[in-house]
Amino acid sequence: MTCNEKTILGIEKLKERIAQLKKERNAVILAHNYQIPEVQDIADFTGDSLELARKAADQEADVIVFCGVDFMAETAAILSPDKTVLLPAKEANCPMAEMITAGELRVLKERFPEAAVVCYVNTTAEVKAESDICCTSSNALKVVQSLDADQVIFVPDRNLGSYVARFTEKKIMPWEGFCFVHDRIKPEDVKKAQNLHPEAELLVHPECRAEVIDMADHVASTSQMIEHVCRSRKKEFIIGTETGILHRMKKDCPEKLCYPLSSQAICSNMKRTDLMKVYSSLQDLNPRVSVPSDIADRACLSIRRMLEV
Ligand code: 13P
Ligand code: SF4
Repeated sequence: MTCNEKTILGIEKLKERIAQLKKERNAVILAHNYQIPEVQDIADFTGDSLELARKAADQEADVIVFCGVDFMAETAAILSPDKTVLLPAKEANCPMAEMITAGELRVLKERFPEAAVVCYVNTTAEVKAESDICCTSSNALKVVQSLDADQVIFVPDRNLGSYVARFTEKKIMPWEGFCFVHDRIKPEDVKKAQNLHPEAELLVHPECRAEVIDMADHVASTSQMIEHVCRSRKKEFIIGTETGILHRMKKDCPEKLCYPLSSQAICSNMKRTDLMKVYSSLQDLNPRVSVPSDIADRACLSIRRMLEV
């Protein structure tokens, strides 16, 4: 037996055990589109932040295994406080979510008392608790337009905030946060990719810089990108987001050719979850994610408001 065959056998056994434990625990596995292929393949549902929040909100299972980063599992715990929410990779965090604290947001609110506060879902529970409404990359403009206020404090992503500002009359005041994966994609990367694939359509995530967004054919959340690729009559696409998404594109629309805009666009935090960690978390029902009820109750309002928009 070759080493490769042994590994495959190991992976297959692990998958069987995960499936068995999942039944025993009455668990569901939710995975973000950036997860490694093996994790995406064992998930009951793979999606973008909004889809995953919706799944977490109306879950029948007793246990939610969240394969993603901390703010996503926290959102699930806030929406389903009676469930056990597991984050298999305890250390998987989102650096952008750490770029604003609840204290900093309170100072901003005092400076602009007339402004509404929109927080990207990539925030801590404490920041969500200080916000009027939450948003994701797929609904940010809709959320902003749903507000009565003319001024909006938008935290923490400056790129998403500036992108939304293009389409609204409201005054958007973006915080200076950013995603290191998307923010480092440069116009030169776009030119290089377009030289290699001149027929391809360019899709980018709104966490990208304005100069990159200006060059795109479409700006979309991760799941919106997958949907667009599958539906489009075009054959080739350059994908301007984290490269984990390419696995789903290959699976959902194998006839299309999708190229990464940058092979460096890898979120190390999203890659911390593997099959072994999923298995151990189901076995031990740990690491658990919970949010203190005083914060969770207030954060829940801003998430629920978003889900209603
Ligand atoms: P989506 O909601 O588009 O999946 O994005 C989440 C994220 O973390 C992007 O970096
Ligand atoms: Fe956070 Fe960026 Fe990773 Fe998404 S890709 S989880 S925004 S660091």
